[in-house]
Amino acid sequence: MEKLVIHGGNRLSGEIEISGAKNAAVAIIPATLLAQDVCRIENIPNISDVSCMVRILSQMGAQIRYINKHTIEINTKTVNSYIVPYEMTKQLRASYYLIGALLGRYSRAKVALPGGCNFGVRPIDLHIKGFELLGAKTTVEENAMINASADMLTGSPIYMDKVSVGATINVMLAAVKARGLTIIENAAKEPHIVDLANFLNAMGADVRGAGTDVIKIHGVSNLHGCTYAIIPDQIEAGTYMAAAAATGGDVLIKNVIPKHLESITAKLIECGVKVTEYDDSVRVQSDGKFKRINLKTMPHPGFPTDMQPQMAVLLSVAEGTSLVSEGVWDNRFKYIDQLMRMGADVQVDGTMAVFQGVKELMGAPVKADDLRAGAAMIIAGLMARGTTEIEDIIYIDRGYEDYVDKLRNVGADIYRKEISQTSSDAVSAG
Ligand code: UD1
Repeated sequence: MEKLVIHGGNRLSGEIEISGAKNAAVAIIPATLLAQDVCRIENIPNISDVSCMVRILSQMGAQIRYINKHTIEINTKTVNSYIVPYEMTKQLRASYYLIGALLGRYSRAKVALPGGCNFGVRPIDLHIKGFELLGAKTTVEENAMINASADMLTGSPIYMDKVSVGATINVMLAAVKARGLTIIENAAKEPHIVDLANFLNAMGADVRGAGTDVIKIHGVSNLHGCTYAIIPDQIEAGTYMAAAAATGGDVLIKNVIPKHLESITAKLIECGVKVTEYDDSVRVQSDGKFKRINLKTMPHPGFPTDMQPQMAVLLSVAEGTSLVSEGVWDNRFKYIDQLMRMGADVQVDGTMAVFQGVKELMGAPVKADDLRAGAAMIIAGLMARGTTEIEDIIYIDRGYEDYVDKLRNVGADIYRKEISQTSSDAVSAG
């Protein structure tokens, strides 16, 4: 068990290379179940959520070969079961993508719902509605096993009552081999939805419209292996942009798609940070002083909820009063208790938080409540006066590759330290 120790106050300067997108990887890896031969996936992030998903496929019988740290070959031909028990799914929220992928492959899936939640209730009613409209009968059995089966999946119009990344992905996975046309309306538009569609099309699928709110899928009977490179991680990039700004730094963030960062860039500029876009990098320069802003999280292309805690850290020291409104999750302000331990002045009322900017944050012992909350604590620690120690960093390890080294390379004073006591089982936040 380790914690992070950060001596705050260093200005970040230099270059940071962004890894492949976590949320694309955890959808694309189960999607290989739909292929009849080997898929080679490049730009895989080296994080524990990905190794967890790879381990699940391996336990299901897939042959996995790591070509190097970021390239993997997966052959799912040897998988011969549609059942995935809780012991395999309990550590990873995204393991519910196995339902869509197994339904697509076998027209049957029996998958245990993943364990605990980090930011409020995380229902899957829209996933189930989608499967049922494709012709699957779905029941929840003992031990939270979702049992879905169909004689034959058949394409259908599916209207999503709410924009859901997970439901859109799960329905795409189930529908690519269904007979006929599926039309997902009010689909999520996040960059990783487009990435998954591109991956499925590289395997021979016929998916059109990803990135808009109507996705059309013409079912095909077979999908083949392919070679595919995952997009850069939008949220990892945004997190380092916020960290650079927070420390009054000057950092070139490389291997990004600037278009995916537009909402984050716009809000940083509104705060008074200078952001320069290049073809595949962005440079963030800041004097460490921030103007107050209002922030509302929304599905893409709105400001991402997964950047809300990191951005809020800047607002805790911005001049004046900033309003943060969380438009996606009901309970995503848990990290504020930790931030207040560091001197932040925040009032929370439901899904709205009012930040009264303070002069500075002070180092304190805090914990990571979930993945992005943990990232926010790192940013707070980097900008605070004194020493911050962060516990429960298992959450952060799930989504950020080599973050200690990446931050040390640009001048942060951050390191891991062994602690003896054990912490409760952490479940992926996102
Ligand atoms: C994904 C991301 C997560 C991010 C979230 C929103 C992954 C692995 N995780 O999570 O990091 O915070 O998108 O951008 O990609 N909802 C329902 N019924 C459903 C499904 C969702 O009501 O069946 C609601 C949720 O409670 C939430 C909203 O829809 O309020 C959005 O959830 P969704 O987009 O599905 O999030 P995830 O896919 O779980």
